[in-house]
Amino acid sequence: MTALRAAIVGCGLFGESHAAALMALPDVRIAAVFDIDADKAQRFAERFSVPTIAHSLPELLDSGVDVVHVVTPECAHREPVVAALAAGKHVLVEKPFATSIEDCEAMTNAAEQAAGIFMVGQILRFDLRYGTLREQAAQGAFGRIVNVSARRNRARGGFEIYQRIHPGICNSIHDIDLILSIVRSRVVRVRAFERNVNGYANPDFFFGVLEFEDGSLAQVLTSWLIPDAAGIGLDDYLQVIGSNGSGVVALQPSPVSLWTESGYAAPDTGYETRLNGVAHGALLNEIEYFYRCVRSGKRPDVITPAEATNAVRVSLAMLESAREQREIEITEWS
Ligand SMILES: NC(=O)c1ccc[n+]([C@@H]2O[C@H](COP(=O)([O-])OP(=O)(O)OC[C@H]3O[C@@H](n4cnc5c(N)ncnc54)[C@H](O)[C@@H]3O)[C@@H](O)[C@H]2O)c1
Repeated sequence: MTALRAAIVGCGLFGESHAAALMALPDVRIAAVFDIDADKAQRFAERFSVPTIAHSLPELLDSGVDVVHVVTPECAHREPVVAALAAGKHVLVEKPFATSIEDCEAMTNAAEQAAGIFMVGQILRFDLRYGTLREQAAQGAFGRIVNVSARRNRARGGFEIYQRIHPGICNSIHDIDLILSIVRSRVVRVRAFERNVNGYANPDFFFGVLEFEDGSLAQVLTSWLIPDAAGIGLDDYLQVIGSNGSGVVALQPSPVSLWTESGYAAPDTGYETRLNGVAHGALLNEIEYFYRCVRSGKRPDVITPAEATNAVRVSLAMLESAREQREIEITEWS
């Protein structure tokens, strides 16, 4: 099989995670990278032995790559996605799809007109734990869905980096998207709340309620308040309550815990981890699925641009609700 030539736009933290996952795929090689910070691109290329460091987006798109991973900050997805699709590339873009509906629609239109495969990386759809619950719900294991409750409870230190964006769109987008895929009805109104406990650029606590057209209810919570010294990076949780049953995903207590001179630690073994030097976990599952679609020419249906847009729509309505301290009706739906 001819190796596919991958490019990464955005050589930051998650760009590295994409690169590590790509190294685990036998029929893909990372051929080129681009970052507006040339030093970062240089260090990244050295670390992952990438032969081409492009100095501009057009140069990257001209370098003969087949697939472009857009791993730029949340508000900077549109330009590289639209340009890469117009250049005939297959494109995988990170979540959240965008920080405005206008950007979501521009990228969706570009994808509809393009020959390339396009997907938004909503990682929970490829996570074995969350995916199991979603499939059970779809098969009717819990009966009619009454309520879904989701939490992303994170260690304080992580917000040093991610305070650049509101947790209601950066983090809760994961749960909102998964909840939409479980409930499978449109959201009609939301009410959300935010608190800035430690004085960061954005609130470090966010909570909100979603009401669906079919009467189902959901609540999401993102918090960046766990003390770093507790050793718990991720305390994520999701519970589905149905008319005939319930299902739960709980990352704590962790099945793996380390008790060392540094204290207690509960390492992530589900989203993106390494074993024997090779990437494993939900991110690898997502990227493998995307490349299977690229190879077969199948449009991804595990997550569609319309679904990713609706998750952004709900998230933005929740942010508005928290800001204006009132309920927000959602009238548009993709
Ligand atoms: N799925 C997940 O679990 C997960 C986890 C972390 C981050 N993410 C997402 O990945 C994306 C990147 O996040 P990150 O943590 O890697 O951020 P980061 O700040 O660490 O890296 C972003 C990189 O993009 C570069 N950049 C900025 N604008 C650019 C542009 N126009 N063209 C090229 N490069 C540009 C920056 O210089 C930086 O190196 C975000 O959308 C984020 O929400 C997803």
